[in-house]
Amino acid sequence: MKIGILTGGGDCPGLNAVIRAIVRKGTFHYNDEFLGFMEGWRGVLENMTCPLTLEAVKGILPRGGTILRTSRTNPAKAERGLERCIENFKKNGIAALIVIGGDDTQSVSQKLFERGVKLVGVPKTIDNDLSGTDFCFGFDTAVTIATEAIDRVHTTAEAHNRVIVVEVMGRDSGWIATYSGVAGGADVILIPERPINVDEIAEMLKRRHDRGRFFSVIVVAEGAKVTGDAQAIAGSDGAKTDEFGHVRLGGIGNILAKEIEHRTGFETRAVVLGHIQRGGSPTAFDRMLATRYGVGAIDLVHQGEFGNMVVLRGNHIQSIPIVEAIATTSHVSPELINVALSLQDRRGSRKVPG
Ligand code: F6P
Repeated sequence: MKIGILTGGGDCPGLNAVIRAIVRKGTFHYNDEFLGFMEGWRGVLENMTCPLTLEAVKGILPRGGTILRTSRTNPAKAERGLERCIENFKKNGIAALIVIGGDDTQSVSQKLFERGVKLVGVPKTIDNDLSGTDFCFGFDTAVTIATEAIDRVHTTAEAHNRVIVVEVMGRDSGWIATYSGVAGGADVILIPERPINVDEIAEMLKRRHDRGRFFSVIVVAEGAKVTGDAQAIAGSDGAKTDEFGHVRLGGIGNILAKEIEHRTGFETRAVVLGHIQRGGSPTAFDRMLATRYGVGAIDLVHQGEFGNMVVLRGNHIQSIPIVEAIATTSHVSPELINVALSLQDRRGSRKVPG
């Protein structure tokens, strides 16, 4: 069978591991042939392809990025975009497609599936915000990098009696912030799921100071909602959106640092981890998960389970309809939020109106 593969959306450690697993199992067990579409949906729209042989996937398991490159191109926004994709599949003799991507990329998969394209999905995002799966590959690597950064920030914050705000990615979900914040022992963790007033944060820091802890580390998710001041609420560059209509987030760390310094008088700095969280080699966990997803995806193709996506539930690879996975965003559970809150000093916390 001739199978197309593409990687779409923001890159993510483990993409190459998925590609490698698909090509190896497909070649060794099913006698498949593979064609890569370059740069996500752009490659399908513009017919940019490359052969994906055993040779092409040699040595890519530990490599970050994606040998197929990626983009946030949305074919539904282009003139006859979806039709052009279908024409290019036919032109290349593609019998089935494996789409490795997050919610935006998979929303295009669903549209093409509804138009008769035989495809399966693999959940990819460092944000871990795809529904239906316990974990997306790439998340563990991002958390590991963020945790190491928080550890490093701790020692310098302590040495200088400073507050340091670490801004992490995650879009509208606080998964990276919660995991890295708890793992790194942050004093305050701010996530989109639980808006907080900036005065309340200042109070917590002052109480900590009163206990003789003259430094603090705050982890803030890029999409966190901090209320109580017009400036602090902003935290995003509202002018710029991608082809799927998402506002480019980022900036809340610096705004928050100023607001905190102003309210507490403590010297406060911000560190924005940005794309460092997405680059480089995947962790062993992500290599394993990505490989399991790749193997699961090629099996789904041969079982004819089109329109489905591989997911991890418990420690089992299963599959669910793509339409279900993209219906809602996965948010941090109340149980995990409670774990994070349990570790914060909220004694004597006065209720500040949001
Ligand atoms: O979805 C992954 C992600 O890294 C988000 O956490 C972040 O908001 C966004 O992508 C950044 O995208 P870009 O690299 O296109 O600016």
